[in-house]
Amino acid sequence: MTPRSLAQTLGSVVGDDHVLVDDDLRRGFETDWTGRWSGPSALVVRPGATHEVAEVLIRCAAAGVDVIPQAGNTGLVGGSVPRAGDQARRPAVVLSLRRLNAIADVDAAAMQLTAGAGTTIADWQAAARAVGLDTPIDFAARDSATVGGAIATNAGGSRVLRYGTMRQQVVGIEAVLADGRVVGSLTGLPKETVGLHWPSILAGSEGTLAIVTAARLRLVPHFDHVVTAMISTPTVGAAIELAGRLRRRVTSLDAIEIIQPEALRLVAAHLGRTPPIGVADDATVLLVECADHADPTDELLAELDGPGVTATAVATDAPHRVALVAFRDRLTEAINAASVDTGTPPFKLDVAVPLGAVEPLLDLAGDAARSDGCTLIAFGHLAEGNLHLNHLGVRDPDALADRVLRGVADLGGTISAEHGVGVAKTGWMHLVRTDDDLAAQAAIKSALDPLGMLNPGVLRAHDRRRSTAAGQVP
Ligand code: MLT
Ligand code: ZN
Repeated sequence: MTPRSLAQTLGSVVGDDHVLVDDDLRRGFETDWTGRWSGPSALVVRPGATHEVAEVLIRCAAAGVDVIPQAGNTGLVGGSVPRAGDQARRPAVVLSLRRLNAIADVDAAAMQLTAGAGTTIADWQAAARAVGLDTPIDFAARDSATVGGAIATNAGGSRVLRYGTMRQQVVGIEAVLADGRVVGSLTGLPKETVGLHWPSILAGSEGTLAIVTAARLRLVPHFDHVVTAMISTPTVGAAIELAGRLRRRVTSLDAIEIIQPEALRLVAAHLGRTPPIGVADDATVLLVECADHADPTDELLAELDGPGVTATAVATDAPHRVALVAFRDRLTEAINAASVDTGTPPFKLDVAVPLGAVEPLLDLAGDAARSDGCTLIAFGHLAEGNLHLNHLGVRDPDALADRVLRGVADLGGTISAEHGVGVAKTGWMHLVRTDDDLAAQAAIKSALDPLGMLNPGVLRAHDRRRSTAAGQVP
């Protein structure tokens, strides 16, 4: 099928205005927001309803084109933009889900709402807050990242220690299989056991098994009283000890974010502000948030008045809290800005290790960055041992990733905590999954997507040792 006839057939489903063919219109859908991942698309199709998604998939299958699902395009592992070079096995269509952004059936008593896959996290939050509730998920990319993308990657963010990851928030799902059949249910019954659980199957499947079109999502209480503290601890070990104490004793605890000094300096320079506390080079900084129906400040301060805390800045009113949180929320933006000077996009590794291994992980990541000659900017979500290792000016990303990810696996950790595997980490899946496990996952993929048209290359494990030796790294 020619590109022109593909555009015509998809235009007859979604309307010609929602098929983007021109280079200028497609460009923003073909590169991720770090600028590291990029590939060409035949066109971008923007369905506005579930039945349109189904019909688009049927026609793409008939046309022999691959489908790359995308919504907010805030993914960080190359999973939501077309494949480049050898990985682009057939022409690809970007299936943009942004128009599926309706919020419906808000039920304050059941503490649930239904959101289209293209609903942003910020809009989910606004709808929850309109009925005196809140979202269990929050992260810095909230204004662009979407519910569908968060399900696809099993995103987490800062509130995971209190409410769990995205997987735990999906009480119902609607999705379209590659052949156009619609599966799932949006009833949201907390107790319903009728065979397999589609939310569990699809959360974390990164658009490879089906296209999520809508989800029934959990809501949580909204707390009027929030306190935010920036804390300096003398060592990583002291930070972990403090985090453990806070988790055991402070019931209003909402977030414990870790920011290493280099990261704090970078974001402070980007913001043009001095951090409110002095931070030594070997210190570890925590940004802690507590939220409750009554003021949790005293509860938090009581625990900070002890060993292992060298400096604290506390904010209880909204403007001061926002100013403090900016040192964490705007880190990714600061890293992207700094990467422009280095001439290469930032190189990101999202990993998690058991808490006792956070310090060795930071040591090995520091060694790996020094060997490469790049600058390591480390931060993350301490309660889950989840570190975002960002590298500026990296020379050999493949060697760096290999060293760090093998180290992570040796420490009992995982190669992806909340950003997904995408195409970036497929070569290291064997480090944390057995061959039998990966074969079973591939069998599920084949059963649901026999043509392999949904997000090809993503989550497609290959053994780097074997394939490198054979010269076959795809
Ligand atoms: C974050 O926690 O800010 C994100 O996961 C994004 C990132 O690592 O850049
Ligand atoms: Zn994160």
